[in-house]
Amino acid sequence: MEKLEQLYEGKAKKVFATSDPDALIVDYKDDATAFNGQKKGTIVGKGVINNRMSNHVMQILEKEGVPTHYIKELSERETLVKKVSIVPLEVIIRNVAAGSFSKKLGIEEGKKLLCPTIEFSYKDDALGDPFINDYYALALGLATREEIDTIKKYAFTVNRVLLKYFEECGIELIDFKIEFGRYHDRIILADEISPDTCRLWDIKTHEKLDKDRFRRDMGNVEDAYKEVFKRLGL
Ligand code: TMP
Repeated sequence: MEKLEQLYEGKAKKVFATSDPDALIVDYKDDATAFNGQKKGTIVGKGVINNRMSNHVMQILEKEGVPTHYIKELSERETLVKKVSIVPLEVIIRNVAAGSFSKKLGIEEGKKLLCPTIEFSYKDDALGDPFINDYYALALGLATREEIDTIKKYAFTVNRVLLKYFEECGIELIDFKIEFGRYHDRIILADEISPDTCRLWDIKTHEKLDKDRFRRDMGNVEDAYKEVFKRLGL
């Protein structure tokens, strides 16, 4: 597989064309941003951890019936993935109150929710990824009813599988954000699943092992990412 020109550079990854029109190479960076790019920094070694963790998790999810963009890990930071057209929705599942949910609703971080929730943000940096619902997504033509139903079904499967998997590793899955893409008219899981995109707490001490340490200037960011990597046996 030949690596061709760079197509795009995002906040955490670069994307390259390949000699296969149906495949891309993603290259994970150590760059970290928060608050829609207003806060910038580096988390040394993050690219390697996020690449390997995301690939590992996507392979587990494939086995559980969630189709993903993963094809093959090419190096520490590079992965061959299916070329999708991203559905411009950030899909967020929550099991425990934290972050914007706690702030908006005045609920203490760490309060277990009675059932998992799902929400959508419209992926638009200029607008700051505003919160929207199914009807907005339909009315704006962001996705069809069938696609939204498929996305919800897969998102809850991802939650069920990962809650159990992380728990076995001593980690509580508080919430996470995933993205989907269209691949030959089928919806598949794309982007990444990593400490950048999940809230992961130590199951006993509730210590934060994710990007909130960077967002909130808590220190020991690299150590937290390494700890997750180690607990997953990677
Ligand atoms: P929130 O509580 O800030 O809405 O975040 C919910 C989850 O989504 C949390 O696991 C972090 C993740 N997330 C991203 O992956 N990217 C983002 O841009 C934001 C705001 C949150």
